[in-house]
Amino acid sequence: MEMFIRYTPEYSEHMKSSALCATCHTVIVPGTNGQEVVEQAPYLEWLNSTYNNESDEAAGISCQGCHMPRVDEQGQIIATAIAKFPDDLPTRGRYSQHTFVGGNSFMLRLMAEYDEWVGSNIPPAVLEANARLSEEHLGKAATLEILSAERSADVATVRVQVNNRSGHKLPTGYPTRRVWLHFTARDSTGQVVFESGGYGAEGRISGLSSETDTRLHHDEIDSTDKVQIWQQILVDADDKLTLRALDVAAVAKDNRILPLGWSNSHDQIGRIRAVGTDSDNNFIAGSDALTYRFPYAGNSELSISAELVYQSVPPKVIDTVSGFRTAASERFVEMARTVDNLPILLAKVEGSL
Ligand code: HEC
Ligand code: HEC
Repeated sequence: MEMFIRYTPEYSEHMKSSALCATCHTVIVPGTNGQEVVEQAPYLEWLNSTYNNESDEAAGISCQGCHMPRVDEQGQIIATAIAKFPDDLPTRGRYSQHTFVGGNSFMLRLMAEYDEWVGSNIPPAVLEANARLSEEHLGKAATLEILSAERSADVATVRVQVNNRSGHKLPTGYPTRRVWLHFTARDSTGQVVFESGGYGAEGRISGLSSETDTRLHHDEIDSTDKVQIWQQILVDADDKLTLRALDVAAVAKDNRILPLGWSNSHDQIGRIRAVGTDSDNNFIAGSDALTYRFPYAGNSELSISAELVYQSVPPKVIDTVSGFRTAASERFVEMARTVDNLPILLAKVEGSL
């Protein structure tokens, strides 16, 4: 670098700190009535988690620890010389991949497909590879367990728990992200006895009768028109869903699953508190449990399946953008509607009762 660009690189300790990522990934803007709107704050969420321990690398995990792995694709610690030239440079470790894998495979696929129009100069194959890495990464975001499954003469009750294994809220980041639970119970002939959170080919959740249904946080689901969706919903002064941070008047919902180690008395809590979950006693640090209760009086054994799924750009968001009517929004909508938008599987459990 000294030779080619006359720049002498220097070691900087702060490159390893999580606060470095916060400089761009914390988005706080003034809302319509002058109040603070926290649009995205993975760093503040991480501060209020068990991963926040940079003085002890073995105990804590920094942003880099998850998003810039020190191992290669084969899981081997990366060890190499810092440059090919001169050829007598020593081999050393402690390199990190600069892949910054998140969960937005949808957008990476869109960019790969419309590579010429996007003009990113990144080969489509690289974007596609990163889309696949994002889906793999999402597989590490959570675990699911069936806490109990019981039957009386005419009612079945199943308790399911979701555990957040990411370093912040799940989902974190841009407020369009959502995670939901697709629960199905079938009898021995394969007939669906109860379902919540199913979806169609476009990736729209079935069963919900209106947009306001998506704003509800549930602890118990006893009908197919209730679906547990973990997400942040920002609304404008007319209580309408908005994507424009500067139009935000209130947080209508924030039931995103808390990371391990969360405390409701953290000094940043005013900016990151959950909204709409107060009456749910098992919405706690690291997890949320849910009860499914439905009538069943048959004799057959029931098989149950619970799938936790993630969607970065829900169809409703694309519909909203289509209302903007600018050349760029129209082009985005045209492209977005051709890209596969089925949700990505985070975790799955099966059982019977
Ligand atoms: C100079 C500003 C800047 C800094 C510093 C920065 N980022 Fe980002 N990051 C961005 C932008 C811009 C995007 C793209 C947003 C988008 O996808 O629209 C992004 C995207 C991401 C994504 C999501 C990729 C995806 O698939 O959607 C992850 C994960 C991420 N950054 C992690 C980090 C981590 C970890 C650090 C600290 C080591 C960091 N970033 C530091 C600006 C920054
Ligand atoms: C224990 C592992 C872990 C740690 C630590 C961690 N993350 Fe993540 N991160 C994830 C996982 C898994 C996802 C995908 C699920 C999601 O989007 O919430 C993710 C997603 C993201 C995204 C994508 C958000 C979007 O808009 O789609 C960003 C940005 C991000 N993380 C930034 C950070 C920053 C900044 C830190 C440190 C303050 C951090 N992460 C710490 C695991 C981690």
